[in-house]
Amino acid sequence: MLTEVLTPALDTKPGASIARAATVLRAGGLVAFPTETVYGLGAVATDPAAVSRIFAAKGRAATNPVIVHVADIVSARALARAWPPQAQQLAEQFWPGPLTLVLPKADLIPDVVSAGGPTVGLRVPAHPLASALVRATERPIAAPSANRSQRISPTTAAHVLKQLAGRIDLVIDGGPTTGGLESTVLDLSGAQPRLLRLGLVTRAELEAALGEAVVGGPHESVAGDVARSPGLEARHYAPQVPLELIDTSGAQDAGNARLVEKYCHAHRLIGWLPLGSDHGLKLANLRTLVLPDDPRQYSAKLYAALHELEDAGVDRILVEMPPDLPAWQAVRDRLRRGAVGNG
Ligand code: TXA
Ligand code: MG
Repeated sequence: MLTEVLTPALDTKPGASIARAATVLRAGGLVAFPTETVYGLGAVATDPAAVSRIFAAKGRAATNPVIVHVADIVSARALARAWPPQAQQLAEQFWPGPLTLVLPKADLIPDVVSAGGPTVGLRVPAHPLASALVRATERPIAAPSANRSQRISPTTAAHVLKQLAGRIDLVIDGGPTTGGLESTVLDLSGAQPRLLRLGLVTRAELEAALGEAVVGGPHESVAGDVARSPGLEARHYAPQVPLELIDTSGAQDAGNARLVEKYCHAHRLIGWLPLGSDHGLKLANLRTLVLPDDPRQYSAKLYAALHELEDAGVDRILVEMPPDLPAWQAVRDRLRRGAVGNG
């Protein structure tokens, strides 16, 4: 299959790319599109055969449910069997935006979307192209991140093509995504709101909006959470090369620099993602990409940096771990998962 690439910014007739992509989706095709978090790989959520093709293209386990993207709160409610007051509250405050709400699913949602489970993850994306696509298609769109299973999520159309060219029908190129990390996933189907995945919406923001505690999350791993949300699997979001986290908390700069030097002596080519500055380290076999010392800006750049080092053919990627502060939790969570199982 040849993967078509459309660039809406270059449309001579405004809206032509979105109209074409909507036609492909309605015919059962797979379309990758930008959201404010990462690129998603979409299929019409009420078309089980189309959704199955997402799983095949990604190499995704059938046990991992996919998020459904809709245009607005009214469309979301139509896909949930129950809509508690907390859902209304959070939807009004955070949609459109990077928050996925897990709710009891309506019968309209096929089993392939919910991985056979009783719930569905719903979100209203904020990216203008994602929003336009959902509206033009006039169907809910099931879309996991547009990467091969267990690889790094894509934040550009080029990242999507690197992993999925020839496996999907179309990519909408909307340039780099601004958020960079996947949405926060909050389960509202149980007795208490439960955080299943950290993201750009923080626990503090959710608790402030709800006026109640949110349970779960990486510091409170509860037996059964992985089954509830397979994205919690330890090894996920992983680059193709070993990722090592450098955390000399306290003795930061100098200690980290010395560790990196040690790696450079032992390896051919090392990728290095320091925080805020390169600490004056310049070695011939060190490929350095300085990441911003600000959680939002860091999130926007992290996956692109990992893709770039992977493409450069480094033997190992070293990451200077950001501090253990609430604003960094989503980033730290992704980095830890990326590093699990690597030597
Ligand atoms: O930002 C995002 O969420 C991106 C964009 C494309 O929207 N999508 C995304 O999808 O990251 P994916 O499939 O890569 O991650 C979805 C996560 C997985 O961890 C999955 O297990 C969890 O959400 N999830 C989806 N539906 C669920 C459900 N019904 N119950 C529990 N977890 C669910
Ligand atoms: Mg994913």
